[in-house]
Amino acid sequence: MKRKSGYIIVLSLLFISMLLSIPSRGQEKSDKGELDWAKLNAGFKGATFVRNTKSCLECHDDVHGKYMETAHGRAFGLNPKGSLEAANCEACHGPRSKHAEEPDQSLKFSVEQYSAVCMQCHQGGERMHWKTSLHKTAEVGCVSCHTVMEKKSQSALLAKTNQLELCSSCHKDVAAKMSRNSRHPVKEGKVDCSSCHNPHGAPGSGMLVKGNVNETCYSCHQEKRGPFLWEHAPARENCMTCHDPHGTNNKSLLVTQSATLCISCHQYGGHVNEYRYNRVSTPNGNGCVNCHISVHGSNHPSGTKLTR
Ligand code: HEC
Ligand code: HEC
Ligand code: HEC
Ligand code: HEC
Ligand code: HEC
Ligand code: HEC
Ligand code: HEC
Ligand code: HEC
Ligand code: HEC
Ligand code: HEC
Repeated sequence: MKRKSGYIIVLSLLFISMLLSIPSRGQEKSDKGELDWAKLNAGFKGATFVRNTKSCLECHDDVHGKYMETAHGRAFGLNPKGSLEAANCEACHGPRSKHAEEPDQSLKFSVEQYSAVCMQCHQGGERMHWKTSLHKTAEVGCVSCHTVMEKKSQSALLAKTNQLELCSSCHKDVAAKMSRNSRHPVKEGKVDCSSCHNPHGAPGSGMLVKGNVNETCYSCHQEKRGPFLWEHAPARENCMTCHDPHGTNNKSLLVTQSATLCISCHQYGGHVNEYRYNRVSTPNGNGCVNCHISVHGSNHPSGTKLTR
């Protein structure tokens, strides 16, 4: 009898300790992958954490006000979780005992080194595919897009006031398309670059949030997913065959005027080459879609020619 209750106590202790070791969901996991600082920069050899923000501020008071307006300033300064966050400035700048005595620039990090610093706490989640992302490969780093010493944007500590400006600073060709006649309402702030792209990386091409073009489009244009009784093969395969999601000067983000577009694949067939059918010069320039209204697929029993 005694032995049995002993087992029960041991088992329940094990169970409780298991529960405690499961990190609470949604919380950033501080301290998980703390860096080997000396490996990052040999200047950290022999240095220890000062763990005293005030001592840093004796010489760096100028940066403090703006820093305290940021998510990190508040989280680390006011309500730190774990010892790395409690190190505050040193969570990102490394152990600085030697620096505080003999300050210089020798511990300054490169863009790439800063990414390793940030990833101590921001691994996983949205950044699951960072290692293989085109941005990392192209030597773009966390601090190319985020300014952490100062709050410059409404959210996410972006280096510019908003995403369009941030991304445009490097992707000028895409930004230019965002001013064309037909475009997604990115300028208006209703759709963001990050509605379609994960700038931290994603599986598949183009860093698309849903892994491929069509799944990404369906996430907002659900009705285009179908299922359809009568499918139109190109719509099932790739929306980009006919649309440029960044913007065009044709209606409906079409890559060329509608009739020209259709004729690029449908060169033959009863009426295709007859003027009456393919005029682009109709008031709306609709051409083929005047009659073939269901270009994305039809659910009408007699919609086999996509006319209803
Ligand atoms: C005795 C004064 C002093 C103290 C104390 C001090 N620093 Fe510095 N710090 C400096 C000087 C001087 C520079 C070089 C500035 C320059 O040349 O532009 C510097 C540069 C820096 C830089 C930019 C270059 C780099 O190495 O990345 C950072 C970040 C920094 N200090 C962080 C800290 C932190 C964190 C603490 C507290 C642990 C701290 N400092 C304590 C004087 C000090
Ligand atoms: C979340 C990471 C992070 C924390 C926390 C942080 N810094 Fe920084 N700090 C950076 C980065 C990244 C830079 C590089 C410049 C930039 O991108 O804004 C920087 C730059 C600096 C510089 C150089 C500024 C310049 O204009 O050259 C100083 C000095 C500095 N930090 C001091 C501090 C002090 C003091 C604290 C604490 C009160 C602190 N930092 C907390 C990440 C951080
Ligand atoms: C010691 C852990 C730690 C480090 C190192 C760290 N962060 Fe954070 N970061 C956090 C925590 C915790 C939050 C969440 C704060 C909150 O929820 O208010 C956060 C929030 C953020 C946010 C969202 C801010 C917002 O206003 O929505 C961004 C962006 C960010 N971090 C980028 C960075 C970058 C870039 C670096 C490296 C220069 C970095 N972080 C380094 C712990 C860290
Ligand atoms: C090419 C630009 C770019 C790079 C590089 C980048 N970010 Fe971001 N990051 C963004 C944008 C844009 C957002 C806002 C996304 C949104 O609002 O949906 C964001 C959001 C965040 C957030 C807050 C939302 C979230 O996902 O939790 C964190 C934290 C963050 N980034 C950390 C990082 C870290 C760490 C790195 C480096 C490993 C990094 N970022 C690299 C552009 C970038
Ligand atoms: C500091 C410059 C810089 C910033 C800021 C930046 N990018 Fe990039 N981006 C690059 C580079 C360099 C590449 C590598 C491929 C290339 O040269 O186009 C790239 C690649 C990409 C790709 C993949 C291109 C492909 O060929 O598949 C996408 C998508 C992308 N960026 C989106 C964004 C978005 C969205 C933002 C804003 C949140 C952003 N970028 C901000 C520099 C930047
Ligand atoms: C409505 C969805 C959507 C929005 C919004 C969007 N993109 Fe794209 N973007 C795509 C798709 C789809 C591709 C093609 C990806 C592929 O080839 O697999 C692409 C490709 C790219 C590429 C690589 C090829 C190219 O055209 O240069 C870059 C860079 C890029 N986008 C940047 C951006 C930037 C910057 C923004 C915001 C200003 C943005 N995108 C907004 C859907 C979008
Ligand atoms: C984040 C949600 C979102 C995603 C993802 C998205 N769209 Fe859109 N799309 C919109 C919104 C919002 C509009 C504007 C609707 C309006 O003005 O009534 C729009 C409009 C359009 C239009 C009509 C434009 C016009 O001038 O009438 C086309 C075509 C289009 N999207 C194609 C696509 C394609 C192709 C993709 C995938 C690459 C895609 N969309 C992904 C939200 C999205
Ligand atoms: C074969 C060419 C073609 C393909 C492929 C295609 N579309 Fe379209 N799309 C069109 C044409 C043509 C229009 C204009 C219709 C009109 O004027 O009535 C259009 C219009 C749209 C519109 C705006 C009007 C509406 O019907 O809501 C959206 C949104 C749209 N397409 C999304 C998509 C999505 C998402 C995909 C991929 C699943 C896709 N398209 C694939 C040709 C195509
Ligand atoms: C990228 C090539 C491509 C483009 C562009 C394209 N289609 Fe198609 N279309 C196809 C294919 C492939 C089929 C299936 C053909 C089949 O089953 O014989 C098809 C089928 C059709 C059918 C049904 C034909 C039948 O015999 O059942 C109609 C109608 C049609 N398309 C109209 C259009 C219209 C209108 C446009 C312009 C908005 C267009 N297509 C653009 C490739 C394309
Ligand atoms: C005035 C209305 C109208 C216009 C405009 C029109 N079509 Fe049609 N199309 C039809 C009808 C109705 C059918 C079905 C004919 C049938 O069942 O015999 C059809 C059939 C088709 C077919 C199936 C093959 C065939 O010949 O039966 C294709 C492909 C097609 N159209 C493509 C196009 C293209 C491409 C354009 C633009 C250049 C276009 N259509 C313009 C009404 C139109």
